[in-house]
Amino acid sequence: MMNSKEPIRVAVTGAAGNIGYALLFRIASGAMFGPDQPVALNLIEIDPGMEALKGVAMELDDCAFPLLTEIVQTSDLDVGFKDVDWALLVGSVPRKKGMERADLLGINGKVFVGQGQALNRAAKRSVRVVVVGNPCNTNALIAMTSAPDIPNDQFFAMTRLDENRAKSQLAEKAGVPVSEISELCVWGNHSPTMFADFTNTKIGRQKATDVITDDTWFKETFLPTVGKRGAAIIAARGASSAASAANAVVDTVRDLVKPTHGDFHSVCVYSNGEYGTPAGIITSLPIKIDAVGKWHVVEGISLSPFAEQKIRESNDELLEERKVAFGQLGLSF
Ligand code: LMR
Repeated sequence: MMNSKEPIRVAVTGAAGNIGYALLFRIASGAMFGPDQPVALNLIEIDPGMEALKGVAMELDDCAFPLLTEIVQTSDLDVGFKDVDWALLVGSVPRKKGMERADLLGINGKVFVGQGQALNRAAKRSVRVVVVGNPCNTNALIAMTSAPDIPNDQFFAMTRLDENRAKSQLAEKAGVPVSEISELCVWGNHSPTMFADFTNTKIGRQKATDVITDDTWFKETFLPTVGKRGAAIIAARGASSAASAANAVVDTVRDLVKPTHGDFHSVCVYSNGEYGTPAGIITSLPIKIDAVGKWHVVEGISLSPFAEQKIRESNDELLEERKVAFGQLGLSF
C-alpha cells in the first residue's frame, strides 16, 4: 500500500565511500527516520566515484526498500543539495596512520566551503547538516560560515561515535550490558583531546565512579582509549572506521528528530558559551530534544575542576583549529 507521508530528502556526500556504503542501506531501511517514514536519497560523489556510485544505487534498487521513494545520483552539489531536509557530509579525505584529524584541515577545509555555499543556494532553509568528514567540528564551522542563510543551530558534527565507544569501554570494565551506561557526554573536539565525562556517567543507577573505583584507570586507560580509538581502528583495519561511524550517524540523526525521553547524547553544536565553552565554535555538548523537536544543551551538569580543565583544553584546540583554518581559507569569524 502507498505510504501517504511526504518523503524526507537526505543528501549524502561521499555516498560510494566506505561510510556511505554502510550508511545508505540503513537510512533506506527506516533505521534513521522510523519504519513508516519514506525517504528520498540524493547521493553525491566526486566524478571519479560516479561509476562506483552507480553500483551502490543498483544495490539499493535491489533491496526493494518499501520506504525508498527516489535515488538521485550526482556530482553536482546544487543538484545534490536541492531541497534537501538533511545533508550528511560524509565525503572527505580520511586520515592515514600517523596523522591527527587536524592534519586534514588544509586538505578538507576548502571542500566544506563549497558544500556550505551550495547548501546555502540549494537546500531547504530548514535543512539540518551533520558533518562527519574530519576534522568534523571545524569543517562544520566552515560549512556553517559559508551558508549564511541557514541558521547556525542547524549545523552539527559527530561525537556520538566517541560516546558509543566510551559506553562500550565502561560496560566491558564494569561487566554490565552496554544499555546500563547512561548520561555519558563526550565534550569538546572530536580529537584525542575530547573529554568523555566519566565523572557524571551512570552505570545502572549508580555513579560510574562508585562502580569502578579506580581513578587511575579512568584517567590513564579509559580516556586515552576513547580519545585514540579512531587511530587504533586505522592501525588494525588499515582504514578508518566505517560501519561504526555510519552507525553513529544513524544514532545522531535518529536522536535529533525525536523528543528525548531519558538519556541525553553528545552532539557537536554551535556554542553560545554554555558551561563556559567559548561561543562561536562547534563543540560537543550534552544535547536533548524538546517536545517540538528543538535541541537544547542539558542544564545543571556539575563539572569537577578536572573535567573543566579537560574541556577547556579541547575547546582551546578548537579555537586554534578555527584560527588556522579560517586564516587559510580567508574566512572571518
Ligand atoms: C574515527 O573516529 O574513527 C574517525 O573520526 C576516523 C578517524 O580519523 O579517526
